[in-house]
Amino acid sequence: MFTSISDPQTQPIDPEDRAYWSQVRSQFMLEPGHAYLNNAALGMPPKPVRDAVAAGFRLMSENPSKAKRDFHGYIESELRPAMASFLGAETGEIALARNATEGLYHIVNGLGLAPGDGVLMTTQEHPSAVKPWKVRAERYGIEVREVHIPSPLVGADDILERISAAIDGRTKVLFFCHVTRGGYLYPVKRLCAMARDKGLISAVDGAQAVGMLHVDLAEVGSDLYTNSLHKWFLGPAGTGFLHVTRAMQPSFSTLYAPEAEPGGDARRYEIQGTYDLPVRAALGTALDFLNRIGIGNIERRLRMLSDYLRKALLEVPGLRLLTSLSHDISSPGSTIFEFDGIDAARWRGPMEEEAQLHVDDHDRDGHRGLRISTHYYNTTDEIDRCVEKLKEMARRDGR
Ligand SMILES: Cc1ncc(COP(=O)(O)O)c(C=O)c1O
Repeated sequence: MFTSISDPQTQPIDPEDRAYWSQVRSQFMLEPGHAYLNNAALGMPPKPVRDAVAAGFRLMSENPSKAKRDFHGYIESELRPAMASFLGAETGEIALARNATEGLYHIVNGLGLAPGDGVLMTTQEHPSAVKPWKVRAERYGIEVREVHIPSPLVGADDILERISAAIDGRTKVLFFCHVTRGGYLYPVKRLCAMARDKGLISAVDGAQAVGMLHVDLAEVGSDLYTNSLHKWFLGPAGTGFLHVTRAMQPSFSTLYAPEAEPGGDARRYEIQGTYDLPVRAALGTALDFLNRIGIGNIERRLRMLSDYLRKALLEVPGLRLLTSLSHDISSPGSTIFEFDGIDAARWRGPMEEEAQLHVDDHDRDGHRGLRISTHYYNTTDEIDRCVEKLKEMARRDGR
């Protein structure tokens, strides 16, 4: 439960080493016969994480005051520094949160913007960000504009040019995803550098990035970055973080604690009061599990699986791949596609009920397609099974 967090594995592991990856897979408890290809919606935590949460709640019942002390001690002395190091950040820059949405609400409401100030985001943002930005615009008179980003993506330069062209004298903040809900990869370092060059604040929704690819926040160069650790990081449900750089902290208001509170670091952006300590502490177990594999090995395994999937999808009659084959603008984990003239989004239910294949619908930017998100615990056999089922569904719909 108070897992000692291993140093990151840096030795390369062959992404196709069946023996290694099936040993990793054996630590997941998915019901037999099911293939979970929907990690982008919610991750599937491995058994040690489940066990840590369960043991933690047992301790809370058996000896609450000791449990509280021990959890706080573990979170501050072990978990927070290890998370910061994993993210390429300083310990005092990480606020632990319940999810990305909490971080997004903080970003929207913590920034000191005056009526008339402008925020640019893109048409690919998640409702968890769009909604609070719209509330702030309505209530406080800031201007929030969405820059149209075509789907499928045209290229990294195109994204940069479109956002750059939309910046005007009112713009104070650039807000965008690192990886979109559909798995499109934005040129996040170049966008943050552009914001810096123009004296703007960069705020990033990293909900779909951390745990899927190597994220070093110092290299990303964002001022604010938030994430859900219950997706690709495979933490327990109800975990995330908000990163606020040291330079940003004096001008980024907390919603929870007095501004002048002494010794304040990013912890002042954490929601106050009692919270689910065993869940948060189990992030240490999730990080240890991840570090034992190594984020570089995870990213390579994900690339291998999604390249395999995308190639196989190209053989399905009538299927239009929306995700690029280029690694520059596609994430390693999520793949979206549609069928000409068919509403494939409604296949999500039958895929699960008839074939125990868990995928998600993709209903955005005029698409009515599907999203398949593959994590390192998936196999090429599961992908083959999924592609065969898609061919069957397409035949049923007259393809
Ligand atoms: C890009 C993006 N941002 C934010 C969120 C919200 O995440 P959560 O519900 O964990 O707060 C999601 C969830 O799918 C997402 O894909």
